[in-house]
Amino acid sequence: MITVNNLMQQYGDRRALDQVSTDFPAGQTTVILGPSGSGKSTLLRALNLLSRPDAGTLTLGTQTIDFSHPIDQATILAVRQHFGMVFQEKALFTHLNVLKNLTQGPIKVKGQSKAQANQTATALLAQFDMSALATRYPYQLSGGQQQRVAILRALAMQPDYLLLDEPTSALDPELEAQVLRILRDLAQQKKSLIIVTHNMAFARAVADKIIFMEHGRIDYDGSAAGFFNAKDPRIQRFLHAMTF
Ligand SMILES: Nc1ncnc2c1ncn2[C@@H]1O[C@H](COP(=O)(O)OP(=O)(O)O)[C@@H](O)[C@H]1O
Ligand SMILES: [Mg+2]
Repeated sequence: MITVNNLMQQYGDRRALDQVSTDFPAGQTTVILGPSGSGKSTLLRALNLLSRPDAGTLTLGTQTIDFSHPIDQATILAVRQHFGMVFQEKALFTHLNVLKNLTQGPIKVKGQSKAQANQTATALLAQFDMSALATRYPYQLSGGQQQRVAILRALAMQPDYLLLDEPTSALDPELEAQVLRILRDLAQQKKSLIIVTHNMAFARAVADKIIFMEHGRIDYDGSAAGFFNAKDPRIQRFLHAMTF
């Protein structure tokens, strides 16, 4: 379980995070929704310390980080061990083939043997029907394939939580579907996922929990069913804006 308490982040006169308190249960899929600029990425990035709120706390298991104090490098590395992150734009190592993209982190960061890393990577590719891509280079892959490899690369590090920030928004619809199917499979396997998305059908299908943000605040924090049936006019306005 990850908990954040009273996160505050100010950029000039803008509040990116305003008294944000919530938790991210292990073994569940949490989907963060909200209009553009509402603080979704800032919240997601605070979890692995890519953004640093001005105040508030982050608790991972027994470890609590207080953002109002400086955070030392050892703590940053320890926190980041818990997370894998997938961004909107695929960011594979362009000079390495798919298999090597998957084994690089486990070998270099986790000190795994080459044989062990290869075994894990080969199993992951097989599990998601991507074995045929193992020796291809990123430029030989479609955008959807690249993004699926980026997800497997994050999984190869065996993180406790996988963070995904609009992982499909740079993709065409059919490529988006390929990526969403992988995420749905991972959700069904009870991986701990935290996903920012604008895809409402996907959110409805996979979310155990929904966090809805507006102006840096959490306006809804609860079940997916509760969110999609909410009578709150702000939520209704958002859902209306997202459909036609
Ligand atoms: N590095 C930054 N410098 C200044 N303002 C920022 C920075 N990052 C985010 N913001 C501002 O913080 C607010 C929340 O941004 P963000 O978390 O990226 O929103 P979202 O992901 O929901 O679109 C926005 O008003 C954005 O302009
Ligand atoms: Mg964002």
